[in-house]
Amino acid sequence: MSSDRVSQIAGHLNYPKGMLAGQVAIITGSGQGIGAEAARLFANEGAKVIVADIDAKKSAAVAEDINKSGGQAIAVAGDITDAEYIKTLVQKAADFGNGKINLIVNNAGYTWDGVIHKMTDKQWDTIIALHCTAPFNLVRAAAPYFRVKDGAHRCIINISSTSGVHGNAGQLNYSLAKAGVTGFTKTIAKEWGPAFGVRSNTIAFGHILTRLTAAKENGDFVKGPDGEKIAIGIPQKTAAAAGDAMFADIALRRPGTPAEAASAVLAVASPLFSYVTGQTIMVTGGRNM
Ligand SMILES: NC(=O)c1ccc[n+]([C@@H]2O[C@H](COP(=O)([O-])OP(=O)(O)OC[C@H]3O[C@@H](n4cnc5c(N)ncnc54)[C@H](O)[C@@H]3O)[C@@H](O)[C@H]2O)c1
Repeated sequence: MSSDRVSQIAGHLNYPKGMLAGQVAIITGSGQGIGAEAARLFANEGAKVIVADIDAKKSAAVAEDINKSGGQAIAVAGDITDAEYIKTLVQKAADFGNGKINLIVNNAGYTWDGVIHKMTDKQWDTIIALHCTAPFNLVRAAAPYFRVKDGAHRCIINISSTSGVHGNAGQLNYSLAKAGVTGFTKTIAKEWGPAFGVRSNTIAFGHILTRLTAAKENGDFVKGPDGEKIAIGIPQKTAAAAGDAMFADIALRRPGTPAEAASAVLAVASPLFSYVTGQTIMVTGGRNM
């Protein structure tokens, strides 16, 4: 959905300054892909966005783009698995928000695949650290800004995957990590919902067109904990072997765009979802029904 269309909907619901007006949002992994689209959509709805990504150049570009378009954003680049960076991120977000943080989207991530009998300890530990421990550290560090009784809207969104909900061959580490996100989400909803009104939801994506699902042969890679190159993407021979069947189990018979994925994140963060918490929302075009 285009950001214009999202704004149109917001307008109909009478949020003239945007559905997230004045709210302060940390979005991890927002230097590109789904996170970058979410940063733009959130800013377009009036949020002050903290673009948090390990890629300093890309984070700066997203923040600059938002500011040039009349929105408000700052880039705070760093590695989300680094506890010191998390302290800085929370502090800078609170400073930018004049002492307030309303929204966290735990989105940063990548895959490091391998079949079970060949998966290394490092593959295992890296993926759990990135998708589970890092969100825990961030949410814990931001707790003082969420355990607040001032009636303001506060919400946490954790990004999962169909691999976490249904499992996926070759992704034992990622499947466990993304499944873990659902229990993490529900616990936040149960701990911080009653007294503080904090909402917490998981969004599980299916096949979204980002570099994670692009051709592996494009040569895109991320750097592992010791600087090793981890190739990302889907090998062309896997895609070619699947052929038309690639999207046959998707009711809409196509992958999703990053803008469509990010629109779902905005929807969950928005007042439209004010009575939805503890849920896993499947954004898959109807895969795995
Ligand atoms: N693309 C899909 O089909 C798909 C499907 C299911 C779930 N997801 C999940 O959606 C989220 C976003 O993925 P995407 O497809 O937009 O990928 P992407 O590669 O386009 O974007 C991910 C971003 O996370 C950042 N990142 C990675 N490691 C980081 C770290 N240690 N610290 C800070 N930032 C880091 C990257 O630099 C990148 O900008 C991920 O959690 C991914 O697992 C994606």
